[in-house]
Amino acid sequence: MTQKEIFDSTLSLLREKISLEKDMNAGLQFICDELKEKIDHYDWVGFYLVDGEKELVLGPFAGEPTVHTRIKFGSGICGQAAETKRIFVVQDVSKELNYLSCSPTVKSEIVLPIMKSGEVVGELDIDSHKIAPFTDDDKEFLVRVCSMVAKFF
Ligand code: SME
Repeated sequence: MTQKEIFDSTLSLLREKISLEKDMNAGLQFICDELKEKIDHYDWVGFYLVDGEKELVLGPFAGEPTVHTRIKFGSGICGQAAETKRIFVVQDVSKELNYLSCSPTVKSEIVLPIMKSGEVVGELDIDSHKIAPFTDDDKEFLVRVCSMVAKFF
């Protein structure tokens, strides 16, 4: 299967499952597990949820546990994505000064804000052990995944 075919079949599976799922944690956990398993260059997949005033708290994830369970807006790649409300792609984390390292094996990261009524309510965060693995197809795929979970917030 090509990468595009893997994205398409994963999207169909997630759509089917998430449309029926009512429990937020179960839905988000399913997505983390599927993305980590199906997409080769996704080595850690997790959701952060906005907690009160300008702070992200770690929600469901798949991969190694991280010490970064609470992140302030503006701090690290996650905090910058939350503050700017923009997708943040770092193809080589060694070149990013405002970065919170979870593990030396992580080489790149993509973070997508999940928006509701113009505000960031959560984020999807993906780490990769490869340098520069993220393409426009990844972005397009992950934007679709994020739009599926907006109903939980
Ligand atoms: N690297 C992130 C912190 C979270 S971990 O990747 C799980 C950052 O710089 O915000």
